[in-house]
Amino acid sequence: MSALLIATEAGSSGEHLPFYLAAGLLALWAVTIGGLGIARKTFPTSSGATWAIGGITAVLVIATVGLAIGTAVRFDNPTPRPENVVGVVPQPGQSMAPADGAAGAAGAAGAEPTAKADPADAGGKVFVSAGCGACHVLKAAGSVGKIGPSLEGVGADPAAMIKKSIVNPNAEIQAGYAANIMPATFSKTLSADQIDSLVAYLQKVAS
Ligand code: HEC
Repeated sequence: MSALLIATEAGSSGEHLPFYLAAGLLALWAVTIGGLGIARKTFPTSSGATWAIGGITAVLVIATVGLAIGTAVRFDNPTPRPENVVGVVPQPGQSMAPADGAAGAAGAAGAEPTAKADPADAGGKVFVSAGCGACHVLKAAGSVGKIGPSLEGVGADPAAMIKKSIVNPNAEIQAGYAANIMPATFSKTLSADQIDSLVAYLQKVAS
């Protein structure tokens, strides 16, 4: 019986348990019948007993073979269990991003890796906060100012030219517009970064 118990434990999940039980019963039955046959002169004692022994033996053999086949089929399509799975299984809330490199390290720390900030995005905010929209039409900013020229198309100009129009608007006056209307103070009120981001913004949205 201890062999049966050891075999049962080897079938870790209990999937094999019915097969081991049937096989163990069949073995016990065979040993018992064999022992009785050796020990007694007349065994089985009647034809009814012969049929009963034959019937029980047949049931045990069929059950054991059937369970052996059933267990083997299930074993071919096992339910994945942690100890059987090779590789990494994503756990809920865990990122599958590769763990190498700085982005991976950031991901492992729980922070989403952020894309490098586009200066044009900052430029859009500067455009609003500096009040450019009060005098200029720019669809992307939703501005409809009519004091200065529309900035649609200005983004196609070279960056240096756009920058000059912002920091030194009186250097070249747009045809049809007067000098000294656009403030010439943005080079002082805005940082160099803010002006560069404004230029990047106009090149992106106003070309
Ligand atoms: C008070 C009104 C006013 C404000 C505010 C203003 N501008 Fe102007 N802007 C003008 C006028 C008028 C002109 C045309 C005369 C000139 O070229 O100086 C102009 C010209 C320009 C031009 C040249 C356009 C072209 O077609 O070449 C650019 C670029 C420009 N502005 C950008 C800006 C930006 C960016 C801001 C915000 C930082 C701004 N402006 C704020 C009135 C304004």
